Amino acid sequence: METKSKKPKEEQKDVAIESKEVKHTDGQQYKLQAKNVDVFYGDFQAIEDITLDIVPNSVTAFIGPSGCGKSTFLRLFNRMNDYIDNFDMNGKILLDGQNIYSPSVRVEELRKTVGMVFQKPNPFPKSIFDNVAYGLQIQGITDQDFIEERVIESLKQATLYSEVKDDLNKQALALSGGQQQRLCIARALAVKPSVLLMDEPTSALDPISTGKIEDLIHELQKKFTIVIVTHNMQQAGRISKKTAFLYMGRLIEYGDTQKIFTNPEKERTQNYITGRFG
Ligand SMILES: Nc1ncnc2c1ncn2[C@@H]1O[C@H](COP(=O)(O)OP(=O)(O)OP(=O)(O)O)[C@@H](O)[C@H]1O
Ligand SMILES: [Mg+2]
Repeated sequence: METKSKKPKEEQKDVAIESKEVKHTDGQQYKLQAKNVDVFYGDFQAIEDITLDIVPNSVTAFIGPSGCGKSTFLRLFNRMNDYIDNFDMNGKILLDGQNIYSPSVRVEELRKTVGMVFQKPNPFPKSIFDNVAYGLQIQGITDQDFIEERVIESLKQATLYSEVKDDLNKQALALSGGQQQRLCIARALAVKPSVLLMDEPTSALDPISTGKIEDLIHELQKKFTIVIVTHNMQQAGRISKKTAFLYMGRLIEYGDTQKIFTNPEKERTQNYITGRFG
């Protein structure tokens, strides 16, 4: 890439974002890979020797009983566990073939590529516009036209725009829970990630809002690789292509969702999906 350019700063940033996108969607066999991963919180081992590959442009679900390590495992993919004091790990997590725990990886860059949506919608106590613009502003982008365009594009992608377009200055906390969650998805999309991690994104929502988020996830998988943790078996069955069943920190079974839910290999999986425990 040329080092000097006459383009204004904001446009250069935009080019950088676009080229990142191209790089990350180019013919990779696997978008994400875990290789022999162990996770420890102090002396406690939360994940034990998990190896798993995630295909691009698909939805992958992590299921399993409470405390089995789903959130811990999910958070490995954008290094969110790094914030936890006694966290330690072995093994590798690869994004587009590159180990995201190698010293050369910049965590801020990684988190732009791998966005995250949490269980409880967590908009900032700011306007709808500012919530979505946030990720661009912290990158130092100041071109208002560019920011506005990206905010609108992201709100449309998150299927929220038609509901909020008349007042983007409205306080985000005044939106309904389901709207807030779609706003959080728009906020994640604004920095053009290629992966979205979602930790029980609908568990705090009513069935109608849940349905909207599920439709949205279904749509987004065309452009993004989505990994979702869910306690809702029907949801995993409806929206995911692959399902991983975790139990006590181990990956018990991983495969096509259809197969996991109709004809699993392991008895433990069968017992869990039929509601015999968990
Ligand atoms: N910060 C932490 N320090 C110590 N132990 C932790 C920490 N976070 C999680 N754990 C433990 O690690 C294990 C896995 O937790 P995790 O939150 O990943 O489970 P989960 O499958 O997401 O559960 P849930 O379905 O209830 O959200 C649990 O035994 C939990 O108590
Ligand atoms: Mg969890």
